[in-house]
Amino acid sequence: MASYHWVVLVLACTCALSGALAARDLADDPSMAARHEQWMGKYGRVYSDAPEKARRLEVFKANVAFIESTNAGNSKFWLEANQFADITEDEFRAIHTGYKPAAAADKGRSTGFRYANASLDDLPASVDWRTNGAVTPVKDQGQCGCCWAFSTVASMEGIVKLSTGKLVSLSEQELVDCDGTDKGCEGGLMDNAFEFVVKNRGLATEADYPYTGADGSTCDSSTAAATITGHEDVPANGEASLLKAVAAQPVSLAVDGGDNLFRFYKEACSPARAARSSTTASRPSGTACPETGPSSG
Ligand SMILES: *[C@@H]1O[C@H](CO)[C@@H](O)[C@H](O)[C@H]1NC(C)=O
Repeated sequence: MASYHWVVLVLACTCALSGALAARDLADDPSMAARHEQWMGKYGRVYSDAPEKARRLEVFKANVAFIESTNAGNSKFWLEANQFADITEDEFRAIHTGYKPAAAADKGRSTGFRYANASLDDLPASVDWRTNGAVTPVKDQGQCGCCWAFSTVASMEGIVKLSTGKLVSLSEQELVDCDGTDKGCEGGLMDNAFEFVVKNRGLATEADYPYTGADGSTCDSSTAAATITGHEDVPANGEASLLKAVAAQPVSLAVDGGDNLFRFYKEACSPARAARSSTTASRPSGTACPETGPSSG
């Protein structure tokens, strides 16, 4: 662990330095305005007026500088100027996240953990719940801070599939509209949402109760298609416990998705591809790891 921390610190310092240099270069670069225009076209972005566009261009420049300096210095993954490239980190957190941790009083509450005695030696080397048909395609919460609802629904879809054999896409909007303990687009907690589902005796299908990505619709919880009987928390600070749980069923978890590295993540880079690139002309571009990273040095 000590050497791992050491590596992280070294990388972080490198990024900060090269980021400052790149930001200076890009800020004076007239082609950044053209790149911004191109990006606006790609993502269908329209601004209300010229000052707003100028402000967004500045944010875009800063984000592109961060992305390019990270890509130049990081050997494990690539970032890209995706649809979030014209907003700041604070704006991104406000618009696109939405996990509200439990109140201190609720944190110590223990729910029991059914996989406590599972043997680590008996676990499979890997499990992919997508290929096991227990996960619906990726959904997009849009500009509504209800990650808590998506997380709740996704793990519920998983356990419903494992117990009934049927994969059914279920309704996040019902949670946004009806779960009064949580705060709709202003955030929530999966534990509360699981408890809501139990009391509500289930959730409607996505098709019957489609996602609008906004607060303010009238709650209609009359058409439950599937339910759960309860939920359990994986014991805190235990990777072995998480391993046991996720080997048995899809689980809900929260990650800090507001971080810039996470926000602009594109894909892992491939050292193997980098090695092959000298002999294979038709290699897909943009996926090999940078030459200068620790993996090639
Ligand atoms: C795990 O094993 C202990 C000791 O045998 C037992 O008391 C406990 O109930 C078991 N827990 C579960 C979740 O099965």
